[in-house]
Amino acid sequence: MDITLNILRYNPDSDKRGHWEEYKLEAEPDERILDLLHKVKWFDDGSLSFRRSCAHGVCGSDAMVINGENMLACQVLVKEVSNPIKIEPIRGLPVIKDLVVDMEPFFDSYKKVLPYLINDDEPGERERLQSPEDREKFEDTTKCILCAACTTSCPVFWTADSYIGPAAIVNAHRFIYDSRDTADKQRLEILKDVNGAFRCRTAFNCTSACPRGIQVTKAIEDVKRKTLTIN
Ligand code: SF4
Ligand code: F3S
Ligand code: FES
Repeated sequence: MDITLNILRYNPDSDKRGHWEEYKLEAEPDERILDLLHKVKWFDDGSLSFRRSCAHGVCGSDAMVINGENMLACQVLVKEVSNPIKIEPIRGLPVIKDLVVDMEPFFDSYKKVLPYLINDDEPGERERLQSPEDREKFEDTTKCILCAACTTSCPVFWTADSYIGPAAIVNAHRFIYDSRDTADKQRLEILKDVNGAFRCRTAFNCTSACPRGIQVTKAIEDVKRKTLTIN
């Protein structure tokens, strides 16, 4: 089928602001949007910039706005979106070039919530055991691939990038609810901040955008509730 791709391009060396460029190409209905971007880059315009690595929904590097919604380009098929297809960089983070954004502010927020297991107790002779019921409490939030689709779809984040954002809260949830971890209070203190979990206005865009199907808004509500239990 004939496809028209409209891509929001921006080159800091030559452009004052972003502009749309149109590409005409042929594609099979089962090809992915990432395949189309490769066709443009390899056969039409080698200067097009975008991130990708695994091409299978695992690395989280190719989140972009496709026809107005945050998606991973490697997970969306041509037949699943309307033609012409509009592609833009994710919103709320500085654009470096074309579809490549500066992810540093996103990872700075992620790092703030201490996203690793903390337990300074003397280890026993065996591993720290956990019941299946306790593991289940944070199963959903272990699935995050740090693609930023949630945070960059959040209207609160668009207007106040000081908001820590849903991805950081999801990753805090993953450890706060881990029965082997001992730093839940530390993380909850961080999330009590004015730019923490209570900045969320329950817009649900994050849940709709998550390519891993994580119940992001529910995780944020869990964290808000837990925050109220600390002194
Ligand atoms: Fe991506 Fe979902 Fe993780 Fe947000 S919670 S960073 S949308 S995988
Ligand atoms: Fe934003 Fe998600 Fe809350 S979109 S306002 S973080 S529910
Ligand atoms: Fe890795 Fe799409 S390229 S998630």
